[in-house]
Amino acid sequence: MNVFGVDIGGSGIKGAPVDLDRGDLAEPRHKVLTPHPATPESVADGVVEVVRHFGWSGPVGITFPGVVTGSVIRTAANVDKSWIDTDAGQLLGDKLNLRTTVLNDADAAGVAEMSFGAGRGRKGVVFLLTFGTGIGSALFIDGKLVPNTELGHLELHGHEAEKRASSKAKEDAELSWHHWAHRVQKYLEHLEMLFSPELFIIGGGVSRKSEKFLPLIEGIRAEIIPAELQNNAGIVGAAMVAADRS
Ligand code: BGC
Repeated sequence: MNVFGVDIGGSGIKGAPVDLDRGDLAEPRHKVLTPHPATPESVADGVVEVVRHFGWSGPVGITFPGVVTGSVIRTAANVDKSWIDTDAGQLLGDKLNLRTTVLNDADAAGVAEMSFGAGRGRKGVVFLLTFGTGIGSALFIDGKLVPNTELGHLELHGHEAEKRASSKAKEDAELSWHHWAHRVQKYLEHLEMLFSPELFIIGGGVSRKSEKFLPLIEGIRAEIIPAELQNNAGIVGAAMVAADRS
């Protein structure tokens, strides 16, 4: 069965039909640039363009980089603040005239990794962390998601962790891999102190370069491995959750 997945990110809105048996895209994805300012109306138009590109009619799962309860957006750290309290499910459902499911981007990526990627079959406490514009977190207990954990906003040395240890923070401050890996290590130490997980799965675009920084991280008891689905995890997870809720 195929369901459509869309991933709304800080730089792009990308989507494709997803083959739920394989946990992979059924067709090459289509991407449009995220408009700036990334208001609900302008982003919704981008989502419509991506879905229409495939002439899709059927359920659509959509990720959002903030807290989502039901289909209402509660926080918007890296997109326009006018999203807060917007019923994204209703807005996007009306524009698309299709049934939509909206969920947090890291939660979606985590759901995909736990079924088809690095977390397959893993029990106990598992984190999927995405390092990108911000830091996203998805917490699983015996494979079951605890949604909207938002642990990128934990405090690290008097700052929000994502302001110090996201991959955007690395680029903005032109940090070396060594320097940045040290910050990621401090962040993982903090999570380990709070949750004692078995496994950290490291996702986001930077996971493609995991060999440059994972070997530099020391002193963490939990296993640390790169995500496998990388850029498509959000799309696949969004489609999986939409299928579950249809
Ligand atoms: C947001 C999270 C999101 C993460 C990654 C954070 O700033 O608060 O909801 O998962 O960025 O996009």
